[in-house]
Parts: sequence; structure tokens; C-alpha cells
Amino acid sequence: MNEKIQVISKYALEGLNVQGLDNAALAAKQTLESGSGAGNDFLGWLHLPSSIDEQQFQSIEKSAALLRSDCEYVITIGIGGSYLGAKCVIEALSDHFAAYKAGGTKVVFAGSNIGEDYLYDLMDLVRGRKFGIIVISKSGTTTEPGIAFRLFKDMLEKQEGKAFAQQHIIAVTDARRGALRGLATQEGYVTYVIPDNVGGRFSVLTPVGLLPIAVAGFDIRALVAGAVEMERDGDQVILDYAIARNALYQSGKKIEILANFTPRLHYIAEWWKQLYGESEGKEHKGIFPASVDFTTDLHSMGQWIQDGERTIFETVLSVGDQQHEVLIPSDKEDLDGLNYIAGKNVDYVNKMAELGTRLAHVDGGVPNLLITMPAVNERYLGQLIYFFEKACGVSGYMLGVNPFDQPGVEAYKKNMFALLEKPGYEEATKAIKEKLS
Ligand code: PA5
Repeated sequence: MNEKIQVISKYALEGLNVQGLDNAALAAKQTLESGSGAGNDFLGWLHLPSSIDEQQFQSIEKSAALLRSDCEYVITIGIGGSYLGAKCVIEALSDHFAAYKAGGTKVVFAGSNIGEDYLYDLMDLVRGRKFGIIVISKSGTTTEPGIAFRLFKDMLEKQEGKAFAQQHIIAVTDARRGALRGLATQEGYVTYVIPDNVGGRFSVLTPVGLLPIAVAGFDIRALVAGAVEMERDGDQVILDYAIARNALYQSGKKIEILANFTPRLHYIAEWWKQLYGESEGKEHKGIFPASVDFTTDLHSMGQWIQDGERTIFETVLSVGDQQHEVLIPSDKEDLDGLNYIAGKNVDYVNKMAELGTRLAHVDGGVPNLLITMPAVNERYLGQLIYFFEKACGVSGYMLGVNPFDQPGVEAYKKNMFALLEKPGYEEATKAIKEKLS
């Protein structure tokens, strides 16, 4: 078995000339590694995996152990890059039905939306139960997690008392700046720092991701070790992916659909969409990152992918081994006509669906890239995370944008604050009221 993430572009690049792009990718990688490109003050993630030391692991594990021993639920509060990394790794590694099974500390999430009913239901869930909070915000001023934290901090203090809350709230934020840093200092919370030079969507291997992942009971050392493998020895696959997607983009394929056949990878795609969407969608350029869960979505979006507008390419994230085996039983009557697959394991059928889908979509004019991971475990998820991060940096530079800023996310905030009549937004409030009248 190959021990690493692989990229296979056999069905992706037929008829495309990638010669020039090889050099462009190497130049982009050089720009990234030398720190000479745009956004070069946000490259702290590049050598992050290999720089995490024993003391950092032990500190995170200690905090996780405290929350695990004292809490039935740990509410992890954050949005965007302060949410999706932990969410995708925990979802990928968890029993699909863990929420319905007794035992163990459950990591639940808040602050990634402003859904009143969502917050109500979560408050209802933890009422009268022992819970702790990990609040994560680099800026320390983001509205969605701010509202959630205010609610759950208040609830925890009233439910368990100020001393318990003080011991069971952990803040992950900037070393110096922001409202959350000030509040955490004043309340005396344990805190972890998001390094200045690591942007939100590249922060999963900092305490932003590692702390909730450890609280969920997963092996953060193996996760980081996997990322180190890719940091040290991943350049070729990273280049292969960056070259292929830029070649396809230049040939008119404007949408990349990340497809999986493994339900536990759903949130990996959500994390990937943020990583690539927020990094590349600038200056009216950039591949639109979309995702589907197969075979489920073959019964909905499959039609569009097979026969719709030919501006898409598909990247299938394929998993080698499942964790468990389930055999399809034989049936004497065979009324459902499934005896032809009796004795096979379910994943064998899934793999045939995967291959059949790829070939059908290629026949339908959808170039197909394949990313293989040997299994879904901490090690290969660590590899995958670093692989996607570095390929994103290379790909963004090939596209000619700064992959490490996100100026476009401010526009909605300005309007929202104006509409909420936030102090300091008086002019904007006046302007938006005129616009709406
Ligand atoms: O990738 C990013 O920078 C963003 O998605 C942020 O992570 C997100 O907006 C949350 O920001 P903060 O951590 O400052 O609350």
C-alpha cells in the first residue's frame, strides 16, 4: 500500500498543454518558500507541523484531559478558519452516530451561524449538564462567535458558578490584540495563541484545531506527524495538483467539484471550500470550489454533472481502506435481485460506483482528477491538510492573487453593522437607509 496521498491526473489533462505550467508552478513554489510573494507575513503555517514541540503537545493534552474528565459537552465556538478545521477532522474520525451513543465527552459547535433556533437548541441540550467552552477567534471581535460566547459564558456562570466557568473556559486568540484577549486576561482563563503569521483557514494545526480535536479524543501527535510527512516529502503531489487545476482553469473549467464516496469526508470538503474559495476568489478570478457527497448526490447533482454546462472538472477524494467490514448477505429467495453481489463487502460496491462514476463523467466531458488517501485516520488526514494548504498557496500564486488575505469578507459585515446601528457606523447607517428607502 502506498503510504501517502497521491494525485492521479490520467483522466484530467488529455489534450492540454501543461508544459508552461510546470515552470509556473515551480516559480510559485519558490515564491512561497522564499517568502517573497504577496501575503508573505502569513506564511507561519508553512513549517508549522515540524515546529510543534513536546511542550505544546503536552499543554494541549493537559487542557483536553481536564475538559474530558469534567465535562459531558465541550462547546467549541468559532467561525470560518476558527471552526472548520476542527469540525472536519472530528467528523472524519468520529463514529457516525456518536451523538446518539452514550459516553465520552461530546464536542459540539456554536458561533458559526446566527441561527436563533440553533442556539436555543444547544442551550437546551447543555442545560443542567456539565459543559465547558473553547472559544476561538483570532481577531477576537467576530460577531457570530461573540454572540455565542456571551450566551454560553453567561449560562455556564449561572449554572456552575464563576469559579467552574473560569476553569472550564479556554480561549484561543491573538497574543495581544482583540476583545477576546482582554476578556480572557481579565477573567483569568487558560489561553492559547494563534500565531500572528497564521491566517484562520491555515490554522487547523495550531491550538485552533488541535485543542478541540484532542478534546474529542483523537491523536493530535499522529495528525501532526502526518502533516510533517507531507511538509518534508510532499512537493511532487502538491505541484501535480496545483498544475492540474490551473491547467483546467485556463482551459475554461471554472468550477472544481470535490467529490467523495465516504460520508465521513463531508466536512473535509467544507474546509477545502473555505481554504480555496477564500484564498483564490479575488480580482474577479479564481476557480469556484464546490463539493458533492457520492453516491448520495449522484441521485441529485449527478444529472447536472453528467449533462449540464461543461465548465466543471471533478476531483475525487478516494479512500483506500474502510475501518470496518460489512458483508452483503445472500438471500435464498433473491426477491430484491441482489444475490449477484452477495458475499462482497459494501466498500467493494462503493469502489465500483466510484470507478463507474469517474468514467461516466469523463465520457460526459468532465475531466477527472483523483486524489487517493490510503485510509481515514489521523496520519493521513494530517497529510491531506498540509497537502491542500501548500497546494493552495502554490495555486494562488500561479493564479496571480494574494492567497493569504480575504478583503471580500468585509462587505457584508459593514452592511450588517450599519443595519444594526453599531456605534461608529453612523455614516454607513445613513447611507444604507437611503439605499433601502
Ligand atoms: O480564514 C479566515 O481568516 C477567516 O475565515 C476567519 O477564520 C474567520 O473569519 C474567523 O475569524 P476570527 O478567528 O478572527 O474570529
